[in-house]
Amino acid sequence: MTPVAIITGASAGIGAELARVFAKHGHALVLVARREPQLRALAAEIVAGGGPPPLVLPIDLGQSDAVARIQEALAANGLEPQYVVNNAGFGLVGDAVDRKRDELLEMIDLNMRALTDLSLAFVDSLARHRGGILNVASVASFLPGPGSAVYYASKAYVLSFSEALHQELRPRGVRVTTLCPGPVLTEFQQRAGVESRKMPLLDVSALRVAEQGYRGLMRGKRLVIPGFVNKLITLLPRVMPRDLMLSLIDRRQRARMASPAKRT
Ligand SMILES: NC(=O)c1ccc[n+]([C@@H]2O[C@H](COP(=O)([O-])OP(=O)(O)OC[C@H]3O[C@@H](n4cnc5c(N)ncnc54)[C@H](OP(=O)(O)O)[C@@H]3O)[C@@H](O)[C@H]2O)c1
Repeated sequence: MTPVAIITGASAGIGAELARVFAKHGHALVLVARREPQLRALAAEIVAGGGPPPLVLPIDLGQSDAVARIQEALAANGLEPQYVVNNAGFGLVGDAVDRKRDELLEMIDLNMRALTDLSLAFVDSLARHRGGILNVASVASFLPGPGSAVYYASKAYVLSFSEALHQELRPRGVRVTTLCPGPVLTEFQQRAGVESRKMPLLDVSALRVAEQGYRGLMRGKRLVIPGFVNKLITLLPRVMPRDLMLSLIDRRQRARMASPAKRT
């Protein structure tokens, strides 16, 4: 059985960069997302760079049988997970009560349910290969999120769950790292319905986020927060009254709602 790294949300943004970083370090890959052409293009790029051909799995992780389908595909190809990278996720900006409830529940299914399922599905194999799990949360994991309530809450779940898993799986030799990026310019903003606006103090490139996430996982770090100012933001809840934080974040999200993404 060949050990592999499964990377979800590899068709764009941070996930595509994570795939490039893992490939650069010689890992065989399984690339998961819905859009097959983007996954195939990335797989071809990795092969052209001298990497082993990744297994491409065009799967909607929002479906309840997604993890079973991944398990079947791995078994059929003689592959065993050494690393699982739960990166696929999306956010939505707007008051929860004004958004379509179906879309919010879809977000919960992807950001929380699929991540939990994949984190737990392969633990024996991860332990056998002395590997680990990299779960992508967010700076939002540390904050209340008026104007993006379900997204922030979903990322708080990812942080809480993954930190606990870090502790639980330590005796089995399985590393669990939570990666908490601040703003990264990717397709994320378009999907969330807000303008892609540069924030020079906060922005970190998708490549740097991926490199720091990879390094943190390999070193067995519990938490990785790329960018100095982003690290400071995660400390705010310790010093700022909750009411003040709620109104500051509310104001920022309202400004973002006022300049929605231009549809292309
Ligand atoms: N960008 C930021 O500012 C930022 C900040 C903090 C945290 N994050 C987190 O970082 C992670 C990656 O975000 P990103 O910025 O790289 O966003 P992105 O460019 O929009 O990429 C999202 C990835 O998730 C995949 N995905 C979405 N829905 C899926 C589904 N139902 N099934 C399978 N794959 C699905 C997408 O692929 P398909 O569309 O092909 O399925 C895509 O590959 C997310 O968890 C996000 O919450 C992002």
